[in-house]
Amino acid sequence: MSKADLIVGLQWGDEGKGKIVDHMAQTHDYVCRFAGGHNAGHTIVIGDKKYALHLIPSGVLNPEAKNIVGNGVVLSPVDFIKEMEQFENLEGRLFLSDKAHILLPYHAQIDQARERLKGDKAIGTTGKGIGPAYGDKVARVGHRLGELLHPEKLTAKIMEFFAINKPVFDAMGVEAPQESQLLEELKHYKEVLAPFICDTTQMMWEILDADKKVLLEGAQGTMLDIDHGTYPYVTSSTTVSAGACAGLGINPKDIGKVTGIAKAYCTRVGNGPFPSEDFGAEGDKLRENGHEFGTTTGRPRRCGWFDAVAMRHAVRVNGVDQVALMKLDVLDGFDEIKVCVAYEFEGKQIDYVPYDLEDVKAVYKTFPGWDKTAGVRTFEALPETAQSYILALEEMIGTKIGIISTSPEREDTIIR
Ligand code: GDP
Ligand code: IMO
Ligand code: MG
Repeated sequence: MSKADLIVGLQWGDEGKGKIVDHMAQTHDYVCRFAGGHNAGHTIVIGDKKYALHLIPSGVLNPEAKNIVGNGVVLSPVDFIKEMEQFENLEGRLFLSDKAHILLPYHAQIDQARERLKGDKAIGTTGKGIGPAYGDKVARVGHRLGELLHPEKLTAKIMEFFAINKPVFDAMGVEAPQESQLLEELKHYKEVLAPFICDTTQMMWEILDADKKVLLEGAQGTMLDIDHGTYPYVTSSTTVSAGACAGLGINPKDIGKVTGIAKAYCTRVGNGPFPSEDFGAEGDKLRENGHEFGTTTGRPRRCGWFDAVAMRHAVRVNGVDQVALMKLDVLDGFDEIKVCVAYEFEGKQIDYVPYDLEDVKAVYKTFPGWDKTAGVRTFEALPETAQSYILALEEMIGTKIGIISTSPEREDTIIR
C-alpha cells in the first residue's frame, strides 16, 4: 500500500504550488485536489506556453497522470467546463467526486453583495462565491455534484431554497434564478460533466491499495486557513494538510511526505494583517520583479519579507518534511534582504503567532543581497550570500529546504 505525497501552501497563497505540483506530477500516477474552488490560480510555464489552472489538478499537463477533484472542493460547473476546454481527451484521466459541492452563479452574487455591504471591512475575496458555497455546505443546504445527474429534482430543490430565503436575498439584491433557465443550465452541466462524476473516495482507497504514486495538491495557503489563518481574513476551507484527509476521504496514515511551498519573500492578496508587508520602494520592487499580480483576479499582490514566525507556525500545523523555496530570483539585485524573525506584541517580543496578527509589529534581521540566481540549477552555483540566506532560513524554521526554484520554468529547479 502506498502513501500519498502532499503539497501545501505555507504563506498566503500563490507561493508557486502549481510549478512544484507540475514538476512532481512527472513522477506520480495521480494528482488530487482536496479543497478550495476556482478562487485558486495555479500557474504552470512549459517552454513558451503558460497555463492558469483554477480547479483542474496541475497533473493535467502530464499526459500520463490521472487527476481527481475530491469531495472537499466546491465546483462551479460553468467555470469548470470553460477550464476543461483548454485540454483534449480528459475522459479516463479526470474524475470528479460526486460529493463535491456545487457552486452556482448566485453564490458569486451573494459573495459580492456581502463584500459591498461590508465596505471598508471587506475581506477582499475573489468574488467567486467560495464563502457562500462552503456556507451552504456547512449549513446543510448545499447541493452535491451527484445531484447533477437528476436536473429536475435539483432545480426544484434550488427553487425551494430561494423561496424559503427570499427576504434575505431581496435585501442583498440577489435575484432568484429563473426556473426553466436553471433547468436548462443544469441539464447542460449534466451532459458535459456526468462522464467524469464518480465515487472518488473508493477510488482513492483503490489506488493507494494498488501502490500507485499519488500526489495531493493543496490550494491557497496556511495563513488563509479557516481555523489556522488570520480569521476572518481567510478563505472558507481547510487549506492545511489535515484538509487532504477530509477532502478526499483518506486517513492520516495514508499521507507520506509533506512538501510545504513558500516564497523566498512574502505576498498576500486581499485584506487582513500582514506583519512583514513593505509599503515602500522595496515592496514595489518585489511586486515588479516577481510579477505579483493575481492569477485569478489580476489584483496587485501586497509584498513584503519572509516571515519566519508565521513559517514556523505553518511548518508545525502541516507537518512539513521539506520546504520548497520559490522565486529566489526575485530577490536578485537587492542590496539587503530582510527577514521577520520575531513579533513585537503588547510590549514584548514573541516568537509565535498570537490570536490576532493585527496588533503585531515585525522585528527584522537583515542579510546581504546578491547579484543573480535566476536560472541557476545547482545549490553550489548559487552566490555565496544566497546560499547563506537559505541556510539561515533553514535554521530559523527548523526544516530542510529541499527544493529551490529560480524561475517559472519546470527545469529551473534545484533539488538538494
Ligand atoms: P500558486 O497559486 O501557489 O500555484 O502560485 P501562482 O501560480 O498563483 O503564482 C506563482 C507565480 O510565480 C506564477 O506566475 C509562477 O509562474 C511564478 N513562479 C513560480 N516559481 C517561480 C520562480 O522560482 N521564479 C519566478 N520568477 N517565478 C516563479
Ligand atoms: P492559490 O491556490 C491567494 C484569498 C483572497 C481573499 C481570501 C478570501 O492560487 O494560492 P475567497 O474568494 O477564497 O473567499 O477569498 O483568500 N485567496 C487567495 N489568495 N491565492 C489563492 O489561491 C487564494 N484563494 C483565495 O484573495 O483574501
Ligand atoms: Mg495562485
